[in-house]
Amino acid sequence: MPHRPSTSSGRPEQDAEGRTPETPEHPEPKHLTGRPIRYYRPRGSADIRHLIDEGFQAFNAARLGEACRIFADKMLLPEHDTTIGLTVAGALTPAGLGGCMVELMERGLVDFIISTGANLYHDLHYALNFTLHRGSPFVDDVELHEDGVIRIYDVLFPASVLLETDAYIRDFLVRSRLNGPVSTAELHYALGRDLMSRQPGCEVHSVVAAAAANGVPIYTSSPGDSSIGMNIAYHELMNDSRLMIDPNKDVNEVCAFILAGRKNGCVILGGGSPKNFYLQGQPTLWEVYGIPKGGNDYFIQFTTDQVVWGGLSGATPSEAVSWGKVNPGVLPDTVVAYADSTIAFPLFCEYVVGSPHGRRPRKELVHKRDELVAVLKRDAKQVQR
Ligand SMILES: NC(=O)c1ccc[n+]([C@@H]2O[C@H](COP(=O)([O-])OP(=O)(O)OC[C@H]3O[C@@H](n4cnc5c(N)ncnc54)[C@H](O)[C@@H]3O)[C@@H](O)[C@H]2O)c1
Repeated sequence: MPHRPSTSSGRPEQDAEGRTPETPEHPEPKHLTGRPIRYYRPRGSADIRHLIDEGFQAFNAARLGEACRIFADKMLLPEHDTTIGLTVAGALTPAGLGGCMVELMERGLVDFIISTGANLYHDLHYALNFTLHRGSPFVDDVELHEDGVIRIYDVLFPASVLLETDAYIRDFLVRSRLNGPVSTAELHYALGRDLMSRQPGCEVHSVVAAAAANGVPIYTSSPGDSSIGMNIAYHELMNDSRLMIDPNKDVNEVCAFILAGRKNGCVILGGGSPKNFYLQGQPTLWEVYGIPKGGNDYFIQFTTDQVVWGGLSGATPSEAVSWGKVNPGVLPDTVVAYADSTIAFPLFCEYVVGSPHGRRPRKELVHKRDELVAVLKRDAKQVQR
């Protein structure tokens, strides 16, 4: 076996045998000539607000309009002081939608996020100044594989981006000295702080860094299901680390935020496990801790998932009423727009950013996790007595 040189993180490099996407043959593959994907930042366009209010009159265009008005005119009313959760599934950061999330966080319009690990992992490419390219979905994938190019539909990038991002994560894990059980919010907060210290200014083009800068906790409902989780597993096996993602902490912290909310509302992008992880907060309160909170007050979802298959991703707000996830009295304040998030979410963000309440004081829940979990525990103990 030939000697394999190590990277700074101690990981052996691939040898040339049995070439994989991790060992590109050509340093500059021809498929990477498309324009770089940049995070788009919504600016509150009056023209887009006009289009949505006056032009989007029926079908899913009208549902998108309803979603915008529920958010801007109700959830953001100062007297409602709604605690707002954003759930993120689908390849949104690779598609450049991280800028919409950054804008909402900076403006205090999102208080916590539940995301697939994939979206957070791919956000790190932007933080680390790697380039993802616009491309075509109609390409020869065998050729891409030979050229060491990764494809997410029409988003293309070199495999070296994965390897270097992974190396950064492993180096961060060593640097962080995180050891023992942590919530994913704690992990992502440390990651965001590390990004800001190593890539100053990246909080304007990274969701993970912006979340740390603005005090927004980010949770991942299935932490093993991404390259971040894969590198945490490496850290345990190869460095004997005791760092462990503790899902119980995540469940209790999200539940505590919902308990503390005067009103609660969500924006659900796609579906998947982040959707349920948010919505289960209400049943965790009434069904498990015996604390009746009354259900979610506002529910907005943009999805391509259908209700007819019986899955959670396509389940309607009215089905969620039966579980005590959504308050039965608020169905008019719930809406599902059947639309591709990559179209609907930037339009939605333009609308809300340009609305009269398009900026709120930030709740900075990342710093209140322990305090709010203590309140949850106190209330649950009182119920027991
Ligand atoms: N390296 C990694 O860490 C890693 C891990 C898993 C996935 N990925 C990549 O990241 C991408 C995103 O994966 P994911 O786990 O976030 O979720 P996903 O792509 O599996 O999507 C989950 C949910 O979002 C919905 N959805 C997806 N795209 C949508 C759209 N454009 N509009 C509306 N709804 C949509 C789906 O119907 C589903 O309910 C994958 O396509 C994959 O290429 C990377």
